[in-house]
Amino acid sequence: PSKRTRLIAGNWKMNNDLNEAKDLAQALVAALPEIPEGVEVCVCPPTVDLRVVSCKGGVKESPIKLGAQNVYWEASGAYTGETSVAMLKSVPVEYCIIGHSERRDYFKETDEDENKKAKALIAGGIVPIFCCGESLETREAGEHVAFVTAQIKAGLEGVEISSGDQLVIAYEPIWAIGTGKTATADDAQEVCGAIRATLVEIFGQEIADGIRVLYGGSAKPENIAGFLEKEDVDGALVGGASLKADSFAAMVEKA
Ligand code: G3P
Repeated sequence: PSKRTRLIAGNWKMNNDLNEAKDLAQALVAALPEIPEGVEVCVCPPTVDLRVVSCKGGVKESPIKLGAQNVYWEASGAYTGETSVAMLKSVPVEYCIIGHSERRDYFKETDEDENKKAKALIAGGIVPIFCCGESLETREAGEHVAFVTAQIKAGLEGVEISSGDQLVIAYEPIWAIGTGKTATADDAQEVCGAIRATLVEIFGQEIADGIRVLYGGSAKPENIAGFLEKEDVDGALVGGASLKADSFAAMVEKA
């Protein structure tokens, strides 16, 4: 098992209006009065829900932390529909998912975009949860490790951090997202281990040792323990199972 503080993060994706978001946050706080030692928990609601989830009646005064699902790298101005780092920071938000395969695919985001987002977030004191992961085709061609390490190198080009807690990586094989199909724990370790080796090349051993690398893709209470036995898997980025307080709480208990 990993020697780092585990991170169990919930990506709500485009689910829950304000009332539903508040209810889910409340249910989670009730289901998790205490968080096991060595575990950190974070939820990432849609942008419009962030404030209500952050307030009293949401996760405020609970140990549950808050993350966003997207950000734009410019500081302010004429970028209709976008949200800046400073706006997220004012909520306040501690984490922000970037590079999710849904954004890369549906919204045509590129490695360069993710790189700008990573730099803007780190400069603004928000921790990026940088997602990477290969398609089924790439895996079947046996190119998954090369593909993912290339994504990491391109997305983190020129990114500077002074400590491992300023960055989180999430390995999410695209074929396992929302499909009910999970990677095996050994599949996850293979790629998460390769990600760690790439992080050592980029940031040096000491910083790389402190960066959490999560697994994501149909993670649920029944399979999380297997992933967390692996030395380079430091937690999970959870989609579907994070929308039910009891499932998400059960995953935290097992971490
Ligand atoms: O970011 C989390 C994610 O993409 C995994 O989704 O529903 O397969 O757990 P899901």
